[in-house]
Amino acid sequence: MTTSAPIRPDSSGPVPRHVAVIMDGNGRWAADRQLPRYEGHRAGMKAVRETIEAAIEEGVEILTLFAFSTENWNRPEEEILALMSLLQFYAQSERAELVQQGVEVKVLGDLSPMDAQTMDAVRTVEEATRGGSTLRLNLMVSYSGRAELLNAVRSLAREVALGVLDPEDIRPWHLEQYLHTRDTPDPDLLIRTSGEFRISNFMLWQLAYTEIHISPVLWPDFTRDHFGEAIRDYQRRERRFGRVTAP
Ligand code: FPP
Repeated sequence: MTTSAPIRPDSSGPVPRHVAVIMDGNGRWAADRQLPRYEGHRAGMKAVRETIEAAIEEGVEILTLFAFSTENWNRPEEEILALMSLLQFYAQSERAELVQQGVEVKVLGDLSPMDAQTMDAVRTVEEATRGGSTLRLNLMVSYSGRAELLNAVRSLAREVALGVLDPEDIRPWHLEQYLHTRDTPDPDLLIRTSGEFRISNFMLWQLAYTEIHISPVLWPDFTRDHFGEAIRDYQRRERRFGRVTAP
């Protein structure tokens, strides 16, 4: 799904409706300080808070944060436990603030391997923030772009096998209805921190025409000013969606 972004009167160009972020560099931030890796993740929570505030100030409608990939389940158990308890802590300690800010939280991914306590915290924050209309916050947890696509393909194959869908009639929206992001437009801007130039199995379908901004900053050091820099960078781009000129 592609959308044209709204023009804000007080900005120098279109504001991206949907910004996705690969929050990278927590481990290196901790290693630079001779700290355990989970301290990097803990420090990364402040950057999450700043990014939400900056997104609201800029007029972004949807913010999608890659918090934990399916591949991250292969990290040492101690780090997985630390990340799950951080997610619980975040969901509980930020809940009132998120409600007050009008942030609607959705936690998206394959949550089946998640422990019951973390699942409870996730459902509680989703429930409490439901209907928030300032910003939609997608937290991608236990998420894999390939697994999401495979799941969608499997669902379409089932419809074909049942005879309710002709393969020749399959359109992009048929597949999109089976994606975790089915109710949101594609990201206009992807930010990746820590200077890495990779997509890392993130939103492989949805990022087809997304502008990419790579920040050299490690995630725990990422501030509202860095978010603003990414928006300004986006505003200088000409988006053509495969055409010769912008639509
Ligand atoms: C990547 O850094 C980051 C993660 C795997 C986790 C992101 C989690 C947070 C920012 C914590 C809090 C967020 C919420 C929403 C509770 P890395 O560990 O791969 O860093 P490295 O590449 O330097 O090793």
